[in-house]
Amino acid sequence: KKSLPLFGKKAMVSAGPTYEAIDPVRFIGNHSSGKMGFAIADELVRLGAEVTVIAGPTAQKATQTLKRIDVVSAEEMLHACSSIFPEVDITIMCAAVADYRPKTVATQKIKKQENELVLQLEKTVDILASLGRDKTENQILVGFALETNDEENYAKGKLEKKNLDLVVLNSLNDKGAGFKADTNKITIFNKALERTIFETKSKTEVAKDICAAILKIIK
Ligand code: C5P
Repeated sequence: KKSLPLFGKKAMVSAGPTYEAIDPVRFIGNHSSGKMGFAIADELVRLGAEVTVIAGPTAQKATQTLKRIDVVSAEEMLHACSSIFPEVDITIMCAAVADYRPKTVATQKIKKQENELVLQLEKTVDILASLGRDKTENQILVGFALETNDEENYAKGKLEKKNLDLVVLNSLNDKGAGFKADTNKITIFNKALERTIFETKSKTEVAKDICAAILKIIK
């Protein structure tokens, strides 16, 4: 164990979607399966790290031994991530966190309206950006960017704006990339904005590539 590259390191991974309640029975969510996040968490364990996954609502399970904290909303994920962040060396934010949530949550089920129903939404906190502001010299912070257009520029923008060490870009335009698939196609940018393009691979293999890029920074 001691010979493993991440022995003695602590890591945190966010995974899955968040659900933002509209009323007691309805929510706003997204198609994230949690597969990519759990694949990364498993790989970090294999490399010797002590891993905590902050998981949104997902049926995904880890294959390795790790700590799991289940959350539902962006707000809950923010609190879980913020409380653990100071203790970890490596953070990978893989969750598809809702960017907006209903401004008020109805306490009773909303009845069917005559015509349209208008929901007012407010912004959620960008967890990754908030961690980026708190980041210290020896912490590594990795974010994801899922884009549909002008992918590379958006990804590079996020790297800089959110103070990341790496950003992993996956485009919805690539076949075999994205939400429910067992495969993904990624491009990684480092702080120097150097780009590495990877082939379409299983999410287990993609997780290895991402962790290899992290190991490169640590060395
Ligand atoms: O800006 P955008 O939402 O596209 O950035 C995606 C990255 O930010 C992902 O790593 C995602 O996990 C993270 N994120 C977050 N909290 C949010 C929104 C996104 O941690 N509220």
